[in-house]
Amino acid sequence: MSGKRLINIAHRGASSYAPENTLSSFDLALDMGIKDIELDVHFTKDHSIVVIHDDTVDRTTNGVGYVSNMTLFQIQKLDAGSWFGGDFSDQGISTLAEIFDRYLGKLNFHIEIKARGAADLASRTCDMVRDYKAENNVVITSFWKQWVEESTLYAPEIKTGWLVPMGPGSMWEDRFIDEAVEAGFDQLCPRAELITPTLVDKIQNRGLEVRCHGVFDENLMKMAVNCGVDGMTINFPDKLQNYLSENDYLID
Ligand code: G3P
Ligand code: CA
Repeated sequence: MSGKRLINIAHRGASSYAPENTLSSFDLALDMGIKDIELDVHFTKDHSIVVIHDDTVDRTTNGVGYVSNMTLFQIQKLDAGSWFGGDFSDQGISTLAEIFDRYLGKLNFHIEIKARGAADLASRTCDMVRDYKAENNVVITSFWKQWVEESTLYAPEIKTGWLVPMGPGSMWEDRFIDEAVEAGFDQLCPRAELITPTLVDKIQNRGLEVRCHGVFDENLMKMAVNCGVDGMTINFPDKLQNYLSENDYLID
């Protein structure tokens, strides 16, 4: 037994098989034996923290409009499952509190602060993490460095990760490592296509975990595993679990 470990994070839940960021996708990840989920948060108009990826509800619900222009009451009336398949028409948009109520003690949470203009969302998310005493079960992440910094400064006891680089075609820059170390982040989260064994070593040697994202197929998944990353978000965590088992990784 080699004792190797890798954090297998169900991206927006097991989102290849159930509508992203809904209870059905998180339940499915749990049923698969996955211990970590990734989810995206926004503020509603009345400052509730809700779990949805996009700035608008258009793509993943039967409604239209910006999340930040809708009240929690309006958001909770939406169907967030039918776009994925008729069997999921009972799925809605959850609050972050509902997610903690349902899964704390069973799952760890990699929470992405999504909106560029959402001042205070990182701090209010940290407040909720503290209220639930979930500090050891959460990593706060964002593509927006200012929200990762806000979290680090406001709640240094909660782990943080910076998603880099911004945008699908953007390139790696070594300054990300220096800036993450300087800011006191715990993880650097590169897009998987940019990973090499050398880059993984370089990041880990500076004391940061490498938790990659954007793993869109199994070849990229295997490549990232074999580069030595510490973890990854993935829409098909069952396939990663199988690959890890076949390659002598420890599965909790
Ligand atoms: O793991 C981070 C990943 O979720 C970032 O991309 O677009 O899925 O939020 P996105
Ligand atoms: Ca995300």
